[in-house]
Amino acid sequence: MELKITCIPGDGIGPEIVAEAKKVLNVVADKFGHTMRYTDILMGGASIDVHGVPLTDEAIETARSADAVLMGSIGGDTTTSPWYKLPPNLRPEAGLLGIRKALNLFANLRPAVLYGELRGACPLKEEISAAGFDMIIVRELTGGLYFGDRKTTEENGVRKAVDTLVYDENEIRRIAVKGFEIAGKRWKKVTSVDKANVLDSSRLWRSVVEEVAKDYPDVTLEHMLVDNCAMQLVKDPAQFDVILTENMFGDILSDEASMVTGSIGMLASASLNDTKFGLYEPSHGSAPDIAGKDVANPIATVLSAAMMLRYSFDLDREADAVENAVKQVLQDGYRTVDILSDGCKRVGCKQMGDLLAERIR
Ligand code: IPM
Ligand code: MG
Repeated sequence: MELKITCIPGDGIGPEIVAEAKKVLNVVADKFGHTMRYTDILMGGASIDVHGVPLTDEAIETARSADAVLMGSIGGDTTTSPWYKLPPNLRPEAGLLGIRKALNLFANLRPAVLYGELRGACPLKEEISAAGFDMIIVRELTGGLYFGDRKTTEENGVRKAVDTLVYDENEIRRIAVKGFEIAGKRWKKVTSVDKANVLDSSRLWRSVVEEVAKDYPDVTLEHMLVDNCAMQLVKDPAQFDVILTENMFGDILSDEASMVTGSIGMLASASLNDTKFGLYEPSHGSAPDIAGKDVANPIATVLSAAMMLRYSFDLDREADAVENAVKQVLQDGYRTVDILSDGCKRVGCKQMGDLLAERIR
């Protein structure tokens, strides 16, 4: 099969980790008889430096013409990088929000898994981490506060800023359907997270989610307020299967969930539209402080490539091969510095890519 993939190396450690993911994909292609056709586009700071904007229309069209997009990371140090002197709509993050909107990538899947081999990296007390956890956050990605009207004004010398949080029922319904579909293939539990004790948008969210739930009688639905959810994630993460939530809550909770795994360098993500098309990226950021030093952990990007094989190309055997390679490398004791523990062998970004590739071959 021919796989047309647009790559966005991006900024910071992005180019290094995408290079390792390609290395792994190329071995998968060799072994299983596929052809990879890559096209790179610029986004974020890399695009600002060349084109003056974080995302061009041409780049969007290139991405749209592919079957899937594999991304590294975008953005720089927000206090020192000149990109953050630009108006907000020209900064690196605007490129990411722009491509999500342009490609209608409304469903963001962020698994947070505690790997057995990395249990020691979990910052929670042992009596909590002992239960293990394996949840997936299903975050609405193209609506809500991040896409509502916003403005900053000044009246009589007093500055005022407004952001608006808007959802219509169709936006809620389609992400809820994704959440229930995914739960149906897992442990059949959806925790829908909102702030229905205060926000109208959350009350609408809750009622639409309840309507959708009627079509999935084998999936259990519970509602949880977002502040309580933030607490439950550190108190008893094993209770969660699918966390279904709106854009901003999902942004915040997914960082928290990834941190409690102790290994954010391991976590993949997928952003999907209502076809097979998706954008796949690690859950972590661009880590400008370690860029170019060959110390970044490429595993989250490699696992994002595995999600791409599974969700966009229906290549389950190939995705399994990649995920098994990750497990084997960990079992063999190899670690990048972010997940290093006593008695393990420290490797750099490139060597981690080589080790993974070898195990697939
Ligand atoms: C994320 C990031 C982005 C978001 C930023 C960079 C716009 O934090 O993917 O979680 O908030 O969605
Ligand atoms: Mg975020």
